[in-house]
Amino acid sequence: MPFIVAILNQKGGTGKTTTTINLGAGLAYSGIRTMLVDLDPQAHTTIGVGVDPDSFSDSMAEVMSVPKKMVSEVVVPTYLPGLYLAPAHIRLAKAAEQAYSRVFRESILAQALKGVDFEIILIDCPPSLGVLTINSLCACDFIIIPCQISRYSLDGLADLLNTIEIVKDLGPTELFQGNHFRILLTMFDRRNRVTNEYILEQLKPYREKTFATLIMKNEALNQAQIAQRAIFDYDAKSSGAQDYQQLTTEFVALWREKRRDNSLAKRPG
Ligand SMILES: Nc1ncnc2c1ncn2[C@@H]1O[C@H](COP(=O)(O)OP(=O)(O)O)[C@@H](O)[C@H]1O
Ligand SMILES: [Mg+2]
Repeated sequence: MPFIVAILNQKGGTGKTTTTINLGAGLAYSGIRTMLVDLDPQAHTTIGVGVDPDSFSDSMAEVMSVPKKMVSEVVVPTYLPGLYLAPAHIRLAKAAEQAYSRVFRESILAQALKGVDFEIILIDCPPSLGVLTINSLCACDFIIIPCQISRYSLDGLADLLNTIEIVKDLGPTELFQGNHFRILLTMFDRRNRVTNEYILEQLKPYREKTFATLIMKNEALNQAQIAQRAIFDYDAKSSGAQDYQQLTTEFVALWREKRRDNSLAKRPG
């Protein structure tokens, strides 16, 4: 069974796409069969791993449309061995609009992911709490919430956690005690001491649910996206590569722990 992770935040520019690509690449380089699902009509993840959204007739737009395709029918390899992609296309915006009038519209993606053969699936969400993001929530086992460190970065976090609770049908206690989500702090700039102190203070109640790994602000991450490569292939010595390597290690430990808990829970007697 794949471990399905939604990477979401209703705000734009918080590092969702950067995290999807570079955590995905980190996992692939660790020998873990990984698929990225690009659920944003802007197709930044698709372009970011060197795939042209116009080069296929079938994409996540067709998965989310009627008559629908399965994700296994649209998945393509990327330049990086072990890293696969279910590409997005701008048509996905239209498909999302039309999905609003469908029955069971929240579970289209969960159904379409059946039968895919990957260990880890990362879903890059659009910057909204619309039907696409809700589909990723319904389909996922775990949630990563990238938050850019800035004065307003935590506005909306309570809303987001509320939505997660409603969709995943979790009581607040289970949401906070269970291993269901992690906040990832991105674009951290040590020079902004006052802002950093303010944000870290605000985040205190969520400390247990925040990755220990901090993603520093690093221009190489920006440039890698333009070069359509993961940071490890663009500048392996950059702080961005080190940070995403550390995140990969932390995430893999979490995944292994959850897998062990699940198999213990399933064991009879
Ligand atoms: N740690 C970082 N340091 C510098 N630039 C970054 C960093 N993370 C992301 N960026 C840049 O910030 C912009 C927004 O990031 P992106 O991952 O596309 O956000 P989102 O998918 O949440 O909208 C992109 O241009 C990206 O290259
Ligand atoms: Mg994005």
